[in-house]
This record gives sequence, C-alpha cells and structure tokens, in this order.
Amino acid sequence: MEHNKEKELPIGFMDSGLGGISVLKAAVQIMPNEDFIYYGDSKNAPYGVKDREKIRELTFHVVETLMKRGIKGLAVACNTATSAAVKDLRLMYPDLPLVGIEPAIKPAVSQYKGGEILVLATPMTIRQEKFHNLLGLYKEQAHIIPVPCAGLMEFVEEGHLDGEFLDAYFSKYLLPYITDKTETIVLGCTHYPFLRPHLREFLGNRQIEIIDGSMGTAKELKRRLGEKNLLHAEKREQQIIFENSMEKQEMIDLSWKLLRLPID
Ligand code: DGL
Repeated sequence: MEHNKEKELPIGFMDSGLGGISVLKAAVQIMPNEDFIYYGDSKNAPYGVKDREKIRELTFHVVETLMKRGIKGLAVACNTATSAAVKDLRLMYPDLPLVGIEPAIKPAVSQYKGGEILVLATPMTIRQEKFHNLLGLYKEQAHIIPVPCAGLMEFVEEGHLDGEFLDAYFSKYLLPYITDKTETIVLGCTHYPFLRPHLREFLGNRQIEIIDGSMGTAKELKRRLGEKNLLHAEKREQQIIFENSMEKQEMIDLSWKLLRLPID
C-alpha cells in the first residue's frame, strides 16, 4: 500500500490571535481524524487596525513558520489577514490546499426578509477592496450595513467574554445601529463568535439572527483536502497543538478553554 507521508501532517491554522479558534472548533468537529496546529499571533494583535502592508508582512511570517513545521493544508482563520494577504499566499504556495475566511454575507442574504443586515468586522476588513467587492455582489438584493468594531477583539484575547465592559462596548458601538428592521448580525471577525452568548443576552428578546462563517470555512477546507486525498479515512487519535507568539502559558490555557467552550 502506498504510504502518503503528506497525509500524516497536521492542518495549519493561523489568526492574529485566538479568534481563529472559532473556525478550528468547527474543523475539529467535522474532521475528527485529523491533527491540527494553530498559531495565534497575539503578540502582534490586533491586526485589524494596522495598515495593509504590515498585516501582509505579519501574515506571511506566521504562514512561513507553519510551513516550516510542516502542514498539509492551511486555514487563514482571520478575516483581516484574508482580505490583506490571501491572494498572495495562493501565489506563494500554489500546491497547498488553502482557505481564507470572509464575512458570511452570502448566507445572511440567502435568508433575507427585507430588513437590515449588520456586518461586524475590523476597520481594516471593512476598508478593503475585497469587502467592497463582496458588498457589491449583494447590495441590490439586501440592505447591508458595515459596523467597524475597533477594540472588540481585545475582549476575547483577554478572556473577557461577558461583563459590564462588554455591555458598555455594545451600547456605545453596536446599539446605535440596531433598529426595528435589524434582522441579522454577521460576525465578520473570527474573534466575535466567542462573544455570541453575551451578545444574545444583550439583544434581549429582539428577533435577530447571529451568524458567522466558521462552519462554511471548515467545510471548504475539508473539501479541498479531500480533493487531494489528504484526509484520513480511518479512525485515529486526534492531536491538537497550540502555539502563540506571546509565549505565555496563559495564552495556551485560554486557547484550550476557547476550543472547549460552547458558543452556538
Ligand atoms: N480575528 C481577526 C479577524 O477575523 C481580526 C482581529 C484583529 O486582529 O483585529 O478579522
């Protein structure tokens, strides 16, 4: 039997910090026989308020680190890094199954009922051409309102997933956008799904759907790996490794906590 060495490698994940663990969670669930290595660049977070060149440089560096470790596929589990660097990453690593993540506007529009769709993302994601192109695809079909959320990812990086400071943030930066017509909130940054339980609480009895792109991205990654015959068909014990540029045990501990946290 031919032994495919590449198949034995882990799947790489990267993010500016711990947010991409929301995508890893989905991937771990649908690919239980695969190993994963997750690199969080928390030391350089947030990416979302930096300029494009800097984000590209940081992203390339993280991906290079993962490539040196050996990975059989890659998820750029960061909307900001995806919009700034994914095109070039595809050129740099043409043979690597690679997926990026972008705000889940398509699923929000597919269930559109005529109200307003809010897209929460980093200021950088919202400024990018990639985002404007995405909006352009759907702007005739739905009323979509981008909401830049500088400072929101930090709550997750610090492990603050609820509490009065988060309420104060939502009151100041999100509430002004909420109207009787708001029907969906798209979480367009991979950190935000960890805030979903508290966001639901904050929204009270308003009938607002909250969606994100983690499962869609994980499924696409699985499809790409499958296409190249890089998935284990047999049952095996899964290994997950967390690495973080902060080099602090507490970031690794928080990573495990986030991976195990129920957030749906
Ligand atoms: N998790 C990242 C994203 O999906 C960005 C957070 C940041 O570094 O600003 O956009």
